[in-house]
Amino acid sequence: MRMVDLIQKKRDGKELSSEEIGFIIEGYTKGEIPDYQVSALAMAIFFRDMTDRERADLTMAMVHSGETIDLSEIEGVKVDKHSTGGVGDTTTLVLAPLVAALGIPVAKMSGRGLGHTGGTIDKLEAISGFHVEISKEEFVKLVNEHKIAVIGQSGNLTPADKKLYALRDVTATVNSIPLIASSIMSKKIAAGADAIVLDVKTGAGAFMKSVDDAKELAQAMVRIGNNVGRKTMAVISDMSQPLGLAIGNSLEVKEAIDTLKGQGPKDLEELCFALGRQMVFLAGKAASLEEAEEKLKEVIANGKALEKFREFIANQGGDPSVVDHPEKLPQAAFLIEVPAKTDGVVAEIVADEIGTAAMLLGAGRATKESEIDLAVGLMLNKKVGDAVKAGESLVTIHANRENVQEVVDMIYANIRIADQAEAPVLIYGTVT
Ligand code: URA
Ligand code: CA
Repeated sequence: MRMVDLIQKKRDGKELSSEEIGFIIEGYTKGEIPDYQVSALAMAIFFRDMTDRERADLTMAMVHSGETIDLSEIEGVKVDKHSTGGVGDTTTLVLAPLVAALGIPVAKMSGRGLGHTGGTIDKLEAISGFHVEISKEEFVKLVNEHKIAVIGQSGNLTPADKKLYALRDVTATVNSIPLIASSIMSKKIAAGADAIVLDVKTGAGAFMKSVDDAKELAQAMVRIGNNVGRKTMAVISDMSQPLGLAIGNSLEVKEAIDTLKGQGPKDLEELCFALGRQMVFLAGKAASLEEAEEKLKEVIANGKALEKFREFIANQGGDPSVVDHPEKLPQAAFLIEVPAKTDGVVAEIVADEIGTAAMLLGAGRATKESEIDLAVGLMLNKKVGDAVKAGESLVTIHANRENVQEVVDMIYANIRIADQAEAPVLIYGTVT
């Protein structure tokens, strides 16, 4: 087989066979096929697309390019939740203990990564003593005994995706539905999920800016998952404004605790129920989505979800008393209010720009080498659709430096106040 013939085949709009896709991914992973040929192929895929069969084959070829995690020693259906990424997205911290409290195994492998705030692991490390450097054996034991554990990303998962994603980044081929869908799904499948609930975001703070594009990506991922034998569904949710009120690591841990107490922001709570009920249903713990949601509400009302969070923290070396004393989380030295300049209704809070403002304070990493400040971030005091009076605080900045003028300027530039506005739709639909 010659790579040049396969590039030509895709360039001419023909379908690549399973063997051909396997040959490409194996050769690329081993360094036998050079970047320039794979770049040309990626561009051909960008214009010519891939069939469902090709997409499934590409996904599985990337899964098999490296190690895979075997979770078969963990009893029950392992349901993973994946978000395509947004600003202030605290759902994992809420959902993990929430569904574990219903006996569903949560075996989470998580990363740090770049972004407006840290990843799930960074957030959890805001809890004194909490650590994710546990052995595979301990991880499996914790999940079997307590239904919940988080382990840091290790090993060589989907090396083909790592190489290809980096190549796409510099060849204008990131924005291709078959390539994005196979990239995301390969990582979830390699991490051992039996069933996958996807939260596909749309809006300013999301990868997919329009609802139609988000729907197309959701459909692509759901079809890949189901075609390779993993029950998969997607929820399409709004990311035009940040989710919840907190953007920052400690701040989001506190927000998750509030939500587990039934006192969280309305949008975060609603999204957690929308995703959680799908997880409970896919795990076979409820006969209908309605029953699944009832069960989730029950473990919040009776305190079992919060108790599960305490247990989880203690199991991984953390101080569980933060649940009752969130002031023990790292606190910023300065709280600075950003008052509204006019009366009106909040019409827009541009998610990605507000996320970048939080990152400038130190809440997230701009580069892999950046250090995160777990204490800092932003608390929104108003959301889109809320009435506001001149002088009322729109945002509270939690900073560890006194001069935050650039952050204040960014906030004013990205929160629009109008005469009238309504809260956006939070959930645009589901894809199964
Ligand atoms: N996220 C991924 O993991 N892969 C893509 O291709 C795009 C976004
Ligand atoms: Ca939040």
